[in-house]
Amino acid sequence: MNKLSSVIFASAISLFVSQTQASPGGDKFVANCSGCHGEDAAGIPGMAPPLKDAPLWQGLGDKRSEYIAGVVTGGMGGTLHTPAGDTEGMVMPPQDFIDTADLVDITAYVLREVNHVPGGPDAAMIDKYKKSPLSHEELLKIRNGGK
Ligand code: HEC
Repeated sequence: MNKLSSVIFASAISLFVSQTQASPGGDKFVANCSGCHGEDAAGIPGMAPPLKDAPLWQGLGDKRSEYIAGVVTGGMGGTLHTPAGDTEGMVMPPQDFIDTADLVDITAYVLREVNHVPGGPDAAMIDKYKKSPLSHEELLKIRNGGK
């Protein structure tokens, strides 16, 4: 390897390292969520809807943290209308057994890196919904903008 290519190689490695360090939630997403939602959060037909849905997360505005915190802690079961079709008959079990700190990282990853929107619940919000989970109806109301 000549000098120039070894410099390029080294900077490619450090770029890769800094990107993976910026995303502790990515690995945790793969470990905990991608079995249903797909590795790239694109959904798995018949299993779980895509979480890559920027219009949904943009439309939720400052309610997006509350919504994603409520879904991961309490789970969901009902019918959602998603870009990949309706989720009729699909159920997401509560993921409240996952450490709060990991859920903070995972939800930040879904919002900021998958959908490029700001925000994400903090530990206090996750713990609040772990203690008193939101119902599917309450979650749908947030998802539909209060309707
Ligand atoms: C056992 C499969 C399964 C696992 C594991 C799972 N989910 Fe889900 N998830 C679902 C299903 C099914 C739905 C749709 C529920 C419905 O229709 O009410 C859903 C819905 C969602 C939604 C709402 C999507 C929308 O369009 O409103 C979010 C957000 C979500 N999941 C995030 C996660 C995250 C983050 C994880 C990992 C911590 C996770 N899920 C783990 C099956 C799963």
